[in-house]
Amino acid sequence: MSALHAGWIGTGPRVQQFERDFASYKCLPSSQVAAVNSCTAALHLSLIAAGLGPGDEVITSALTFCATVNAIIHCGATPVLADVDPTTMNLDPDDVARRITPRTRALLPVHFAGRPCEMDRLQRLAAEHGLTIIEDCAHAVESEYRGRPVGTLGDFGCFSFYVTKNLTCGEGGMVIARKESHIQRVKRLALHGLSHDAWQRYSDRGFKHYQVTECGFKYNMMDLQAALGIHQLSRIESSWQHRLRLWNRYQKKLSALPLVRPAEPDPGTRHALHLYTVLVDPERSGLSRDALLEALHARNIGAGVHYLSLPEHPYYQDRYGWKPEDWPQALRIGRQTLSLPLSPKIGDSDQDDIVSALVEVLEASV
Ligand SMILES: Cc1ncc(COP(=O)(O)O)c(C=O)c1O
Repeated sequence: MSALHAGWIGTGPRVQQFERDFASYKCLPSSQVAAVNSCTAALHLSLIAAGLGPGDEVITSALTFCATVNAIIHCGATPVLADVDPTTMNLDPDDVARRITPRTRALLPVHFAGRPCEMDRLQRLAAEHGLTIIEDCAHAVESEYRGRPVGTLGDFGCFSFYVTKNLTCGEGGMVIARKESHIQRVKRLALHGLSHDAWQRYSDRGFKHYQVTECGFKYNMMDLQAALGIHQLSRIESSWQHRLRLWNRYQKKLSALPLVRPAEPDPGTRHALHLYTVLVDPERSGLSRDALLEALHARNIGAGVHYLSLPEHPYYQDRYGWKPEDWPQALRIGRQTLSLPLSPKIGDSDQDDIVSALVEVLEASV
């Protein structure tokens, strides 16, 4: 409400405060973060700030949201997909190594569902081949790898504050960069390439002329969004604890069902617990993933799919000639995966209803 009453809802002091709060949550100086209006924008600007463009190849996961790969395409580079590990559902470093060519310039690991990628091996590959690492942390606000927050392990970390995410601004995103010069470039590009942002131009300190220093975008976050983010960040730990309880209850209560449950978080990591995904193997479960999805929706249970593998989509098949079979793990997971509700709004009795519905549907099918 105070953002509405302040008389300025555009980019201003609340965005600056959210950047300071987020930086301190990640144990960084605020000069290493920049708020933007989505993770897609964060990825796009990071790729540009990293100097990527036509002729460069960027390796990312075949099992991610389309925004990851679209950002690579929008910066002019060529996306190259690597398959995922069947247990972690994260980039398989062996397949990444196989797909490196003399044109590869960057790795774009996605911390899928909030589980940190095998960053040691990806960092080694990046060092050997002189590659930039841009982490897609859309699912991973709370994730840590060997005691370090994800997003700080590569050169850039990109976060999403979309409505379904662990921390939401409605729409929003954040870039973390190791180099302050990269953050300054990201900030400039996020507001048309202007030399001063709008808040500075219209502040009490008087009118400031601006100059267009390069051709940028309209990717700035508003104070209205930042006000939500500041509030959400202050309760991030209690929301995580709530999801941890739900996650552990699912693991116990679903253990006897013919579903593949997610692997436990890896030792030495903190999992952000963004998604709780099960695999529905028709031979074992007696029905297809889509049949289970429909049966759950008929019982008012909002299950989702994260994600059909990227090579299954016609645009990428037409443009790059991708054949889904060339990424067999992502293909199989994409056809079998189903995400069960996992949100701080869900109480034990809601979760018990979800489990009962699953038991009922699966018992009728096997
Ligand atoms: C893995 C991944 N990357 C990127 C994005 C894009 O995030 P945004 O909607 O904030 O642009 C999403 C959003 O769902 C995502 O799940």
